[in-house]
Amino acid sequence: MKFFVDTADVAAIRELNDLGMVDGVTTNPSLILKSGRDILEVTKEICDIVEGPVSAEVVALKAEDMIREGEHLVKIAPNITVKVPLTWDGLKACKALSSQGHKVNVTLCFSAAQAILAAKAGATFISPFIGRLDDINFDGMELIAQIREIYDNYDFQTQILAASIRSVNHITDAARIGADVITAPPAVIKAMANHVLTDKGLEQFTADWAKTGQKIV
Ligand code: E4P
Repeated sequence: MKFFVDTADVAAIRELNDLGMVDGVTTNPSLILKSGRDILEVTKEICDIVEGPVSAEVVALKAEDMIREGEHLVKIAPNITVKVPLTWDGLKACKALSSQGHKVNVTLCFSAAQAILAAKAGATFISPFIGRLDDINFDGMELIAQIREIYDNYDFQTQILAASIRSVNHITDAARIGADVITAPPAVIKAMANHVLTDKGLEQFTADWAKTGQKIV
């Protein structure tokens, strides 16, 4: 399973990347807003840190404008993936950009039917949003399972990029189902290291070690 970091926070990306935890990065207009940085400048900085795909999202709504924005974004660095929304225009842009040889991430996917269309349009990645489905009492993880089954049935090469991840369980559940990639905020990736029994065990080992009066170095 590949790990993408869902952020435009350069310091957070650098920290995880130094640990070998980053196979790619996803950004979106809200994350760019949160960073307070210029999109072209911050995206270039991220591409210089991370070797894998870095998704930069178009903001136009019409296909021809998305294509123009995508063609501009790919000039930032060779590892740019153009992110387009799952609309009919977004699918047209996906087809055009993928036909030009660019990687395309089709985002804002909320149904298996949408995921089929993205695969047919040549998407490199499909981004089903788990958390936002859970928010409206739909089962986000069930969507990941449906897409996995369908893509496997027909050997679609589009990679399932499980997105809108809010918890550690989202990551492990997506891994069990066989999502190709997860993209998660840095805090959720770091929270994967936490376990109450690890903390408790360490507390006891530390206390017992102190009683031995020994030193290792
Ligand atoms: C994916 O590429 C999106 O940037 C992201 O996962 C959205 O997550 P959110 O629903 O927490 O905003």
